Amino acid sequence: MSTATLRDGARRRESPWALAVSQALSFKDTLRDLFPMPRTPPAVTLVEVSPRDGLQNEKRVLPVEVKVELIDRLGAAGFACIEVTSFVSPTRVPQLADAAEVMARLRRLDGVRYPVLVPNMKGYERAIAAGARAIVVFGSASETFSQRNINCSIDESMERFAPVVAAARAAGIHVRGTVSCALGCPYEGEVAPAQVAHVAGMLDALGVDELSIADTIGVGTPEKTIAVMEAVLAGVLDATRDGDSATAAPTVNGHFHDTYGRAIANIGVCLDLGIRSFDASVAGIGGCPFAPGATGNVATEDVLALMERRGFGTGVDAMMARSTGEWIRRELSVSR
Ligand code: HMG
Ligand code: MG
Repeated sequence: MSTATLRDGARRRESPWALAVSQALSFKDTLRDLFPMPRTPPAVTLVEVSPRDGLQNEKRVLPVEVKVELIDRLGAAGFACIEVTSFVSPTRVPQLADAAEVMARLRRLDGVRYPVLVPNMKGYERAIAAGARAIVVFGSASETFSQRNINCSIDESMERFAPVVAAARAAGIHVRGTVSCALGCPYEGEVAPAQVAHVAGMLDALGVDELSIADTIGVGTPEKTIAVMEAVLAGVLDATRDGDSATAAPTVNGHFHDTYGRAIANIGVCLDLGIRSFDASVAGIGGCPFAPGATGNVATEDVLALMERRGFGTGVDAMMARSTGEWIRRELSVSR
């Protein structure tokens, strides 16, 4: 027999049954720690992009160990997909020059995807050498942004991506194709939904698994978001490959920056259209160094609150996401 403390401080004798139950429960906890259950797919997938989109635009370059801790904390919070870094020119994006080291040191969790950005074959080879199993090729709906961001035209970017996507598919590596400036361009202004659907179709034809439609500078409105997403979804579904049911249509993701505070409304209309994957960044850090005016990504904390209001599960622990956001803000010494 053992004793237990009651709320009023009195001691009582615990029955052998209660003791056995409590021991069984603690054994169950130990078993769960030793043999974690596979994560069940959530109703909405949140892709945490703070280690990549967040940190690429911060003046302060964080040490590798802080980046790795950020990724590990996000994994522990339950994110099933964490965009961790980019294999781009270290001269153009010095904040992510340590990509290989970050990849080598992060703690990979079962069932979690850790994609990295690759702009060309050189980036792909560096990424694979570093152990990447998921990649993002990133194009643009705007010619000027394509030139400023990746130093080539839209058509040239597809020529660069084609061998990358082919190699990745042959190696069983997950590929996302991003369309930047889908809701407006910092250089050209308005971008037509048909142009976004056209570039999305080019990525689809290369064979990407997922399309990410990105409001790079946060100028989207709910009305424009609906028009763009409907055009993309119609294109993707029409192209469900001329009756070739063996090739599945890519899933569609929404990537919103929150420059004018409309990202949550834009995600809301995407939910209405059936889109079930969104990028977000803890504490809303981030932006693109080659898109003047691009402020942070939509804050993960706000997206989690939206999903809770709308009744969508995400598998993410909101308290842990919030404390990770507070912690990274302190690390960046950003006062928002
Ligand atoms: P380039 O200047 O056309 O390339 O760069 P190049 O082939 O002329 O090479 C120039 C130098 O870069 C050479 O080195 C290459 O070896 C090197 P040098 O001979 O001068 O010593 N190089 C590379 N080094 C490392 N990794 C590579 C690589 N490729 C070439 N992969 C490139 C082309 C795309 C590489 C360059 O323009 C670049 O790195 N741009 C940065 C793109 C970027 O990271 N942008 C931000 C991310 S996109 C984004 O934020 C939008 C997103 O969030 C969605 C949204 O919100 O819209 C995804
Ligand atoms: Mg972005």
